[in-house]
Amino acid sequence: MSLPSLFPTSLATIAMLLAAGAQAQSSGTGKGKAEDRAAATVRKMTAEEKLILPKGIIAVPLMGMKMPEGALASAGFIPGVPRLAIPNLTETDASLGVAYIMGLRNDGGATALPSGIAMGATWDPGLLFRAGAMIGSEARAKGFNILLGGGANLMRDPRNGRTFEYLGEDPLHSGLLVGASIAGIQSNHIISTIKHFAVNSQETGRFFVDAKISESAARESDLLAFQIGIERGRPGSVMCAYNQVNGHHACDSDWLLNTVLKRDWRYPGFVMSDWGAVPGTSAALNGLDQQSAWQIDTGEYFGKPLATAARENPAYAARLDDMNRRILTAIYANGVDKYPVKPGGAIDKVANAAIAEEVARQGIVLLRNERGALPLATTAKRIAIIGGYANRGVLSGAGSSQVHGDGGPAVVVPKSGEGPIPDLISEQYHRSAPLAAIKAKAPQAKVVYSDGRYISEAVAHAKLADVVVIFATQWATEGIDQPDLSLPNGQDALIGAVAAANPRTIVVLETGGPVLMPWLDRTAAVLSAWYPGARGGEAIASVLFGETNPSGRLPVTFPASLDQLPRPVLDGADQSVESFDVMTGRGGTLSVNYDIEGSDVGYRWNQRRRQKALFPFGFGLSYSSFDVSALQVRGDRATFTVRNSGARAGATVGQVYLISRNGDAKQRLVGFQRVMLEPGASQSVSVTIDQRLLADWKDGAWQMPAGDYGFALGDNAEALKRPVRVRLAAKRWTD
Ligand code: BGC
Repeated sequence: MSLPSLFPTSLATIAMLLAAGAQAQSSGTGKGKAEDRAAATVRKMTAEEKLILPKGIIAVPLMGMKMPEGALASAGFIPGVPRLAIPNLTETDASLGVAYIMGLRNDGGATALPSGIAMGATWDPGLLFRAGAMIGSEARAKGFNILLGGGANLMRDPRNGRTFEYLGEDPLHSGLLVGASIAGIQSNHIISTIKHFAVNSQETGRFFVDAKISESAARESDLLAFQIGIERGRPGSVMCAYNQVNGHHACDSDWLLNTVLKRDWRYPGFVMSDWGAVPGTSAALNGLDQQSAWQIDTGEYFGKPLATAARENPAYAARLDDMNRRILTAIYANGVDKYPVKPGGAIDKVANAAIAEEVARQGIVLLRNERGALPLATTAKRIAIIGGYANRGVLSGAGSSQVHGDGGPAVVVPKSGEGPIPDLISEQYHRSAPLAAIKAKAPQAKVVYSDGRYISEAVAHAKLADVVVIFATQWATEGIDQPDLSLPNGQDALIGAVAAANPRTIVVLETGGPVLMPWLDRTAAVLSAWYPGARGGEAIASVLFGETNPSGRLPVTFPASLDQLPRPVLDGADQSVESFDVMTGRGGTLSVNYDIEGSDVGYRWNQRRRQKALFPFGFGLSYSSFDVSALQVRGDRATFTVRNSGARAGATVGQVYLISRNGDAKQRLVGFQRVMLEPGASQSVSVTIDQRLLADWKDGAWQMPAGDYGFALGDNAEALKRPVRVRLAAKRWTD
């Protein structure tokens, strides 16, 4: 089916679609109407039919499993009800592109976006809408109508193995970006999730870890990111997490699912479980609407046991109707039934790769640039490229989000274990070699490559070169946290030695998140390229040679040491649980106290502790420079003007922070906007301040005390300027 009208072509269209998403609730095509239709369909369902939608399978033709008709090899499948024109639900992972699921589906490659944190570094909801629309269109073309994307967990610990899948550490920033990406995905008439609800902040002990957090801290941070993401993106589904929250499994938590999500936020869609996260049939009463992949749970809880419970207990019977109503609401609100998916659709790989490249270029953060080392002159005669498999490709993160482009990965480095699960979590590089891209930009230069295995050899290359570009990698995966923030395999020593041998050493980091940089002072320049996706090599070269003026800003704090973290030692690290495997990873006990930092995650924790980061949240250099005018705050609007005072066109991100309340230092990002400017040009920026960011959650409501509120503009969370004070009245409200 061709859906030309669904693909946004301009920023104006994107803004319109984002706004339309926000109105969908009350409009005729939105969820209000969808809920009525859903209720009508439920009234027509037989008792047997009501048991179909609440239970899914993992759809992999392994271990003798026979695939049901209509299922595609993928993360999940739920059969439809043809009698009532309810379509099959075909689910794929795709936070970063349609997942390859161990190559079990023979439908060619998919376009890999850069990692979530790279997308976070763009600070650009319009671009994330386009990125979401792109992966949604590929999911659709491959026959999927549910996309398991929308990672919105905040980075509470930089060692979290899934940091690369998420957007950052701030609730407003993550919420706005994830919402835009979800709206983009769903513009294809498919459903997106938002995940993993909630406080899913480390992988160590992930099937059992208990996140201890007070209600106010949760509402002001992790939950707020989800709340904003849901308001903006209207995802058809929320995926509850593996972990426990305050002693209850997230997928069996009356407080999280019934009270917060469904009562307070009036969420009309359905809650699906993470794969293997359902502890029992009681989860139905506690707000879970669909058991995903029941084969990997400890029981078929939403099968026969639910049928029996519904027959015997009216509370279960009512919930069974409600579960169906919610799943159908998501189907109807997104037109999943009206625009059926079919495998084999056309995919414009060239256009999609261009979007992946644009995200990578915007997400690369220039962290250091001494004596104008960058951009590289095309006159350099000899360039040494070292390490990171830069001759072959760019690193990707592993786990369920792993994408394969056409032809599969350029390099696969096996990791621990044997069998299919370890295959899923090997270290894989996308086919986009920085070496070739750099050669193409510097045809006059002799470009030599050394793999970096031997320090002596790399140093010899470095000494002969005009300039050295060294690629450093930190592989990360779902299921395993990093034990510390060093670069593995001796790369810190390698960089130190190379930079000592040649002061014109430029480090390109391909990491899942923050790392320490003991060699920093010796380098000429550092850029963080994260996991840059299908066209990462080209994007890196474009920034190195100045075709792209870097505009990425850190969406997370890079700590100066592990001692700066709320938990210098990762809880459970001593148990060294390799917890990817749901079958073997269950059954421990572990709790993590998130009330140490409470809602003061990341830069807010640093502000509270008066400690300076290695690189703060919001930080990023440019080849240009920018000025800001005075800040004005009136009502809920903050206004200021940004000017490009440098000689190159480029973008910056205007950041507005709350900095104090009644004289007490208190820091929160309250608004931001990315602005693209020609040299000498200026633009007035106006952002709306979400009042929840000025308030505390107290006694069941948002509460703002009357008094003086201090605001400032920030180049980043530690470089604040143009402070103003505004008197605001007391206010109390509920969601
Ligand atoms: C992950 C989810 C993913 C699901 C299906 C789980 O292990 O936590 O993010 O969507 O698997 O693959």
